[in-house]
Amino acid sequence: MTLRTLIYGARQIVTVTRNRNEKLLCGKDMHDIGIVKSDAVGLSLLIENEDIVAIGTDDDIAREFEGVEVDQKIDATGCCILPGFIDAHTHPIWAGDRVHEYAKKLAGATYMEIMREGGGIGFTVEQTRLASDKDLLVSLVARLKRMLHAGTTYVECKTGYGLEWPDELRLLKLLEQARSHVPIGISITYCAAHAIPKNKTAEEMTDDIVNNQTKALKKLMDEKELNVNDIDVFCEKGVYDIEQSRRILLAGKEIGLSINFHGDELNYTGSAEMGAEIGARAISHLECISDEGIRAMAEAKTVAVILPHTGYILRIELPPVRRMIDAGVPVALGTDANPNAFSSAMSISMNLACVLCRMSLEEALAAATINSAAALGISDKYGSIEVGKKADLIICRCPSWEHIIYQFGDHTHLIRHVLKHGAIV
Ligand code: NIG
Ligand code: FE
Repeated sequence: MTLRTLIYGARQIVTVTRNRNEKLLCGKDMHDIGIVKSDAVGLSLLIENEDIVAIGTDDDIAREFEGVEVDQKIDATGCCILPGFIDAHTHPIWAGDRVHEYAKKLAGATYMEIMREGGGIGFTVEQTRLASDKDLLVSLVARLKRMLHAGTTYVECKTGYGLEWPDELRLLKLLEQARSHVPIGISITYCAAHAIPKNKTAEEMTDDIVNNQTKALKKLMDEKELNVNDIDVFCEKGVYDIEQSRRILLAGKEIGLSINFHGDELNYTGSAEMGAEIGARAISHLECISDEGIRAMAEAKTVAVILPHTGYILRIELPPVRRMIDAGVPVALGTDANPNAFSSAMSISMNLACVLCRMSLEEALAAATINSAAALGISDKYGSIEVGKKADLIICRCPSWEHIIYQFGDHTHLIRHVLKHGAIV
């Protein structure tokens, strides 16, 4: 049975890829996103089950589909329709908070100083271990619902506050469970190598991930107990070095995961060059990327996931996004939502990307939709408004789509409906 939904009367439809079937946008194409506008007539979008089947003026769609039964009509008079945001980098499953560290950071303590004193990720790992499954699931689901209602229809979710296998496995299982509680799309990333546990060295932890953890993970994936997409590591001076990172990432690749990791964040480590060499689909942060790293990522078409909120909160220099875009690196955006960078609003990431990284509004939107989809390997079905793609949409009550970015941190009142796979959520 076909369920048809017609959205009509819209003022603007921001298609992002102009129905050209692009899987990611680079260079000038990031600025040249398809915006269908009409002040004189309304615009329609027809959905069959989960998929977009037609886009056009109200009159054209009415004529083309005359006599076709529509089950649900959504009046979008005066509204703008955008693709749902795709958050390419989050750490959503944890307990406790780090508000006590916030004041320390404001007073000048660095991220690594706090981490070395036992704070940071180590603190959150302890709090997460102490929390019950129920409490972790409840807080995870609440965070995911908040994201969905703020327009994020697909999100990358990392583990990483377990570190040791039994704790990481618990987080993986809870992330799986969350799928049945919230209709947001979830891409799971295995990030046991997020920090070094107290009782191990980085080398011992690397051996454990390569020899034991990834093997155990593969077994559960083969048995269809878990559906994990990517492998991650915090490749950073004083955490996992470049060779340990390479081993961890290749062990993940070996079991069928895609490479998507934290690199060149606080120090230059050669992450971008190494990631491009081993076929990483995405690398996040890149505040300290080299020119050679930019060249390597552009050539390999490895997606750079920019997290402006993190640089902002840590008061570090932001990545050289203009140089990346000019060199042809596909740039995506994420919130990095975690107890350090406490925001899951993609509108804030886009605003910071524009102001601090000097991206245009169009580039920021392309980065938050089609290129984030590419970072997760899902841009064949998600990330733009195109015939044949999934109907993950935001219907906004504003005179033009830019308001979603312009109204800094205050955009949710503009969102009239979020649609996931064609259904209002
Ligand atoms: O992307 N850099 C490592 N991971 C996170 C921070 C996680 C945390 O501090 O809890 C990041 O910024
Ligand atoms: Fe992160």
